[in-house]
Amino acid sequence: MTTRAPFLSQTYAGYEHRDVPPEDTSLTHIGPGTPCGEYMRRFWHPVTFSDDLKDLPVSLKILGEELVAFRDKSGNVGLLELHCPHRGTSLEFGILCDHGIRCCYHGWQMDVDGRILDTPGEPGDSTLKDRLYHGAYPVQEYNGIVFAYLGPPDLMPPFPIFDSYERPGFRMIPGRKYFYPCNWLQILENAMDPSHTAFLHTIVAGSQFTDEFGVLPELDYAETPVGMVYTAARRVGDNVWVRMVETVLPNLQQVAPIWETGQYPHGFGGPMMSRWIVPIDDTNTMFIEFRHIAEAEDAMPKTPPWWGDRNVMLPAQLPEDHETYQDRQRRPGDYDAQVTQRPIAVHGLEHLGATDRGIIMFRRRLRKGIEATAQGHDPEGISREERPITTYCNDSVVPVPQASDPAEETRLLQEMARKLVSEYLARGL
Ligand code: FES
Ligand SMILES: [Fe+2]
Repeated sequence: MTTRAPFLSQTYAGYEHRDVPPEDTSLTHIGPGTPCGEYMRRFWHPVTFSDDLKDLPVSLKILGEELVAFRDKSGNVGLLELHCPHRGTSLEFGILCDHGIRCCYHGWQMDVDGRILDTPGEPGDSTLKDRLYHGAYPVQEYNGIVFAYLGPPDLMPPFPIFDSYERPGFRMIPGRKYFYPCNWLQILENAMDPSHTAFLHTIVAGSQFTDEFGVLPELDYAETPVGMVYTAARRVGDNVWVRMVETVLPNLQQVAPIWETGQYPHGFGGPMMSRWIVPIDDTNTMFIEFRHIAEAEDAMPKTPPWWGDRNVMLPAQLPEDHETYQDRQRRPGDYDAQVTQRPIAVHGLEHLGATDRGIIMFRRRLRKGIEATAQGHDPEGISREERPITTYCNDSVVPVPQASDPAEETRLLQEMARKLVSEYLARGL
């Protein structure tokens, strides 16, 4: 439960805030054995890119666990506990073998599934290697990303394929991987917070996306079978542009193109990106993404060429975008806004308002999933069916003449967003 700081109701009242409440551990802590950590472990998570696994092992941390990822000389990918089962040396210094990895210290060899294949130095009749296993996790490579399942083996769901992966006319490439030194939840919540695009990314920092993003939209939020979307409806000339950005439980964001202008009518145009917010530990987080690229010449909207270059980063995401600290202060981006919410944002110090309905909705869904997990059920968002999972991120641009008075126009925008959401939700059933 969230402990709240006092609501300050007079001037010069800083002194009343001398007791800072702790973070809500039940939603933010993801280490082994924590309620949210167990919930997160019911899902597949991306851990690294396929092409990170070359001739050397890679040490990494996911959900608070120290791990080593590697591709052995037979091409099999392993994700093992980092520390050798013999006496704990890090396997990041291991030697890649035809099968598995050999520890640099005394040569124990572990296969990708955790079997111990060799314990040189032990007597020939030792049965230790036949009895003992090293901690290993199942992995799945998909389109250049290595995914892993860190949960209870008997509850492992099938590897999820989302319909956004298989859109006709689009190709998907692995994008970028980058890191924020703060808790995963405040980063994830950013995608359920559309008002920041109009403020942070446009009014404060100068237009970081298209100019049309600077118009404050009519906002709404809707639950989907796999998570939620926000809808942002704006007037662009004779069109209504409805943008839907999606969170798929627990930590996948699908973001609609930031190059959309709303000027040309089109139907459901899916995401530009499927991006996971993967907790490294409680105060460090990795972003890792697929990028979706429209292939057709007449695609609407066209994907700008820079998006096809993995090395090019989305604007306004990293402090390195700025040459100096002062420049960062003048044109802050997502990194500055989110990391400075504290290493773990303290919910008891927040004052949520009307624009935070999406945050509240998401936290409720998350809490529900954590509770379901604790009770031994599949949390929402797990699919055990074989068909692709329907998702809802898109831009839609519909020609609709402007209403004659502002109140009517607001109602029109709201109605159009609701109508589209219900149409798209009906498709997914
Ligand atoms: S510590 Fe790894 S083989 Fe001895
Ligand atoms: Fe942003």
